[in-house]
Amino acid sequence: MDLGTSYLGLTLRNPIIASASPLSADIGSIRQLEDFGAGAVVLTSLFEAQMQQEDRLIDMLTSVGAESSPEAGSYFPAAIAGSAGPNGYLDLVSQARAAVDIPVIASLNATTDAGWVRYATLIEQAGASALELNIYQIASGPSTAAGDAQADCVTLLKAVRNRVKIPIAVKLHPYFSAFGVLARQLDEAGADGLVLFNRPYQGDIDLGRLRWTNEVTLSNREEIPLGLLWLSLLAGRLSHASLAAATGVETAAEVIKYLLVGADAVMTTSALLRHGPGHLRSLIADLETWLSLRDFSSVAAIKGLMTTMSSGAPSHETALTEGIW
Ligand SMILES: Cc1cc2nc3c(=O)[nH]c(=O)nc-3n(C[C@H](O)[C@H](O)[C@H](O)COP(=O)(O)O)c2cc1C
Repeated sequence: MDLGTSYLGLTLRNPIIASASPLSADIGSIRQLEDFGAGAVVLTSLFEAQMQQEDRLIDMLTSVGAESSPEAGSYFPAAIAGSAGPNGYLDLVSQARAAVDIPVIASLNATTDAGWVRYATLIEQAGASALELNIYQIASGPSTAAGDAQADCVTLLKAVRNRVKIPIAVKLHPYFSAFGVLARQLDEAGADGLVLFNRPYQGDIDLGRLRWTNEVTLSNREEIPLGLLWLSLLAGRLSHASLAAATGVETAAEVIKYLLVGADAVMTTSALLRHGPGHLRSLIADLETWLSLRDFSSVAAIKGLMTTMSSGAPSHETALTEGIW
């Protein structure tokens, strides 16, 4: 059985990728993800906002008492500097590359134009196989026009594209209007892959304490239809970018559905956090079993079998005319 696939121009032994999470934040668990069969791993993101916070903390600490003695100002920097800034992350990238044979995709979430370019360049120099731009910002302000939010994404991709040569994936949340146009623009601007979809924090209200809760919740399989719809609309319609599905995988069934609508790779985090990284083994084994029971000899044989380009898929328009919605 040939489970191999190509994503971002990289050859993967199978289409299941461990997406960015705490599981890909240290070398031990990255090795485990490889041992349990992951086709590739996306490292936890480098967050520029977090580094800015650390910088402010260091400024504060180093200024405390700096006036009291000439040496005081030099106590803190040496102790803190090693862990501050992007160095820890860059070490993770290079150590992960050395530790595993599967592709190591770094992930970046920056807050400034300069930050996107600077950290992308450093990540490339650290040896990442590819870079995922984790675009998390939602245009929530009442004065941000939809078109402006989309144009910002394309501009930042172009800025990074001009500076790094490694493949670039753009991980997007679903809260863009006219998503098809954005996908095409990113494709034309040089994205090697699109990751659909990022899963923004699901805020809720704690009625007991009358407070917003901001906990990270794990996904479930009921969340895949939006990804299925957009993947099926985009598959075969982009000139260059490959496609990864990113939300709601619990079992091999979700992996298979995503492949059927044209995903080149399928990512998972919640299922691995819920069941442990060993869950990768059952995802892969069950995918293989499903393929052989139906006499498919490869993942490639089912990829895109059920896109809207193929017959029978409900497009938004047919769903409307047939009264599904
Ligand atoms: C605890 C946790 C940490 C995460 N950290 C990151 C991150 O650093 N960068 C990122 O792009 N996505 C991050 N994600 C999002 C996941 O990579 C993934 O896109 C999302 O959970 C949807 O996939 P799933 O349905 O398989 O969980 C995180 C998710 C969880 C649950």
